[in-house]
Amino acid sequence: MSELKTINRFRFLKLNQERQKAIEQASTKPVNPGYPVGQLAKKLHPQVQHVKISAIKEWDQNCKTFTLVPDETRATPNLAFFQAGAYISVRLQVGQTILTRPYSLSSSPRQALAGQYQITVKRVPKGLASNYLLDHCSVGTQLTVSGPLGNFTYLPIRDAHTVVGIAGGSGITPFYSLAQAIADGDEDCRLILLYGSRTVDDILFRQEFQELEKRSDRLQVVNVLSDEERPGYEHGFISADLVKKYAPQKEDYSIFMCGPQGMYQFMDKELQKLHLAKKWLRQEVQGEAHDPHAFSDYPNQANIPATVHINVDINGEHKTITASSQQTILQSLEKNGIAAPAHCRSGECGWCHSHLVSGKVFCPLQMDHRRAADQEFHYIYLCCTYPLSDLTIQVPQPEM
Ligand code: FES
Repeated sequence: MSELKTINRFRFLKLNQERQKAIEQASTKPVNPGYPVGQLAKKLHPQVQHVKISAIKEWDQNCKTFTLVPDETRATPNLAFFQAGAYISVRLQVGQTILTRPYSLSSSPRQALAGQYQITVKRVPKGLASNYLLDHCSVGTQLTVSGPLGNFTYLPIRDAHTVVGIAGGSGITPFYSLAQAIADGDEDCRLILLYGSRTVDDILFRQEFQELEKRSDRLQVVNVLSDEERPGYEHGFISADLVKKYAPQKEDYSIFMCGPQGMYQFMDKELQKLHLAKKWLRQEVQGEAHDPHAFSDYPNQANIPATVHINVDINGEHKTITASSQQTILQSLEKNGIAAPAHCRSGECGWCHSHLVSGKVFCPLQMDHRRAADQEFHYIYLCCTYPLSDLTIQVPQPEM
């Protein structure tokens, strides 16, 4: 209160006038974009990075780890730094389809400073991107990727010191990055990782994790095998009981989860048994939406047409496409060779934010992360919105 009294009230009232005067007298010359802070922001958050594949580790026919290095011939001299848990989205052209796919970075943040990223790609049956990367990309292939993105990162101000990681299949990749960052001393947390695989042969980074466990007493990896019983391995599925068995008994812990959609559905129910506060539960984005009938809130209307026409304004051009009502608008645009902005493909990042000028759409409640203002002014996320009628939309230009 005493501090408030010292404020010169008359000076305060004149502040607006003084500011207005200063604005009017200011130069109209644009601010120098070359200020160090601007350059640093551009380096840390590039919208696009050009890379090439420098090495490939083949786990089996259906899974490979690609090492990516900057492609200086296409104006990418180095790679952006990232925090463990981040992903990059890869833009591909497969036939006439132009698409993006998000892949978690499995390499350590330190490797980025040394000019290397790694992503691990597992084959998805009928998956356009994974099949293309696994079967058609080799050492030397040039790729275009985004800067690092995502929120699946450890934040000491929000998360407990101990993280219980729950991983399934290729969902191990962000945890491998986190484990390396812990061993390198770049993340100040403890990781107890429960990793579900079918058999020992399906475990990714098994030896690498063993090496990391030797380097840091803040790492513990528990492999859980569903289809095989072996001494030293848990058997079955990751469950609430298994979390209780390995989680700290007398201190708070955060749960970080990354894996296939089926695992999320199973674990959501299991984790309720632990009665943990919501703030301790974090999960990587759920993945792309496919069959809209899988969502309980899909309108049960006989008059939803099988195909619709979508009028698209993009890059100052106007196009009309025929689209299936059973696919997201993003999938239909991509199939028709229209490069739309998208990264997470799960309704989380907001990059596919577009204006619905006319028409009816369905966005599943569980994927609808729009702000109230977006809903009021008819903005949609293309990656998780299905057409219910003919549409007209305005789509921003993709940045990569
Ligand atoms: S691509 Fe991220 S919200 Fe649509």
